[in-house]
Amino acid sequence: MSRLVVVSNRVAPITEGEPTAGGLAAGVMDALRHSGGLWFGWSGQTVPDTLVPPDTLAPGLPPAVARSGPVTLYTTDLTQRDYDDYYRGFANGTLWPVLHYQTGLARFEHGEFEGYRRVNAHFARHLAALVAPDDVIWAHDYHLLCLAESLRAAGLRNRMGLFLHTPFPAPAVLTTVPVHAELVRALCQYDLVGFQTEGDRRAFADYIRHELGGEELPGGVLLAHGRRIRTGVYPIGVQVEALRAEAQAGEPESLAALRAGLGDRALIISVERLDYSKGLRQRFAAYERFLASHAAWHRRVEYVQIAPPSRSDVEAYQAIRRELEGEAGRINGRFAELDWMPLRYLNRGFPRRRLMPLYAAARVGLVTPLRDGMNLVAKEYVAAQDPQDPGVLVLSRFAGAARELDAALLVNPHDEAAVAAALDRALAMPLEERQERHTAMLRVMRRNSLERWRDRFEADLRDLESAAGAA
Ligand code: F6P
Repeated sequence: MSRLVVVSNRVAPITEGEPTAGGLAAGVMDALRHSGGLWFGWSGQTVPDTLVPPDTLAPGLPPAVARSGPVTLYTTDLTQRDYDDYYRGFANGTLWPVLHYQTGLARFEHGEFEGYRRVNAHFARHLAALVAPDDVIWAHDYHLLCLAESLRAAGLRNRMGLFLHTPFPAPAVLTTVPVHAELVRALCQYDLVGFQTEGDRRAFADYIRHELGGEELPGGVLLAHGRRIRTGVYPIGVQVEALRAEAQAGEPESLAALRAGLGDRALIISVERLDYSKGLRQRFAAYERFLASHAAWHRRVEYVQIAPPSRSDVEAYQAIRRELEGEAGRINGRFAELDWMPLRYLNRGFPRRRLMPLYAAARVGLVTPLRDGMNLVAKEYVAAQDPQDPGVLVLSRFAGAARELDAALLVNPHDEAAVAAALDRALAMPLEERQERHTAMLRVMRRNSLERWRDRFEADLRDLESAAGAA
């Protein structure tokens, strides 16, 4: 069978026990461990521009190589300028907010878009030297929208697919990016483009039809820019049984520490990167509203928010961090007692094996992003629960996961009163209802597992004829 070549902005840390960087890394590593193959991406390191003569390939040629079981990892450094333009600039200063419908937070600089294209081209030049003609190339996420275009320009005719882990916004939102046409033209150089939900796929197809005058054929095939692009919906999942085992294994010391601090109070838990798209500000406000309107829960409940800082050199992330620090202090100042702290706010990451027992111990998983491609924390929380006595998931209707986990308590994260009421309902929910909801969610999660996500995307990619994209 031809080799699988995975490309993503970051390559997962291969040391066991590292904090997880997000769902993507864990998902890709699990997928690659299955079939073996090559994983290419940025090393996470930058080098000064002065080390690299202009117009040469990025440093690190040949890329650094490491092995993890059947997976060979190739990583390359970025120059400071590439990092600024590509990662901090266009990917996270422009694309990320727009993909999450936060157009007001998006900035745009032509130079940064050029930097984004430059880094996609660097990746392509490295890859061109590594891939064999029959390898299949699976790129991940919004950092690499232009990769296939650069690979094609380098003469590669391999089958190429992109899976977008984030939402794909409605055309009216995407077109706020001044270079939307260039981006979509580049995307059309992939043979297969995969999305988390049908809503995301629909938005892409609508763009192709209405903005480009392209055609949509049955079976998710689009015709645009003289090419035939297959599209599909592949909701990313989790390894349900393995996560439950991890939740049960637990680390005695951390659980003991938690119990000592918590006593017999009910735990509400939230975990995510400190990102404005995750709805933390709105969630803090909803929790404050809950405390103000449900005095009966005082001293009986504690909300633990774990939010490791992320992309700290992007201004919008600095702003949300400052704001939340102030809010956490203010809410505790308003409600805390000498023997009760209603909110614990932790700005650091934990490895998954430490998080899973916390999820299992939590009466409520509170996952309320303003927009999210999928949100694997929601699924991890459900997987961690004891089926005999499960906790309750309160989930934003704007997370991709809400399409599958409709047995959660679905909320609009902008509606503070509704989130406060959902917390009350979750905390008081009778055992039978908790079990019914949990069973329904587990059923869907077992069907849409991580393995199924990987197998379906890979099979669809391999099924394509080589260079089948040419219409
Ligand atoms: O899931 C979205 C995502 O951007 C992934 O692509 C990435 O691995 C993760 O979040 C963490 O983000 P960053 O690499 O910017 O720290």
